[in-house]
Amino acid sequence: VTAPETITHHVGHADDFVEGEFRIVERDGRSVGVVRVDGTYYAVLNVCPHAMAPICAGKLRGTSLPSQPGEEPQFGLQGRILVCPWHHYEFDLGRNGRAVFTDYRARVRLFAVHVDDDGQVSVEMPKRAQPAARGARVADGAAS
Ligand code: FES
Repeated sequence: VTAPETITHHVGHADDFVEGEFRIVERDGRSVGVVRVDGTYYAVLNVCPHAMAPICAGKLRGTSLPSQPGEEPQFGLQGRILVCPWHHYEFDLGRNGRAVFTDYRARVRLFAVHVDDDGQVSVEMPKRAQPAARGARVADGAAS
């Protein structure tokens, strides 16, 4: 299997980013939220895998860690957990966007982010497949 072709999209300068706040950009017909937390950038497809909420409108925070009965509750993963605004599923951006502490297996979709020496920030996104032209199918059918 060959890797899908990607396109690099410029999304702003490092100075444009406010720590922990998503910048929403539209690129290639997709809404993507880009955020910087503690020097790490994440680019998130702005669609929750659960029911398609605009997930980048959610909060980026930490979460309660699993604990044993009787243990003090611990809070962790600060700045990595994206909480969906609709049903509050939590996704860990530091672990490939997977849902945390649940059997729910869908992930938020992440894209690679690059920052060049001048501070220009870009996101690498797979090129979208072109839908087959309907006319072509009709033409094929007519020919057979
Ligand atoms: S739409 Fe995101 S948790 Fe339901």
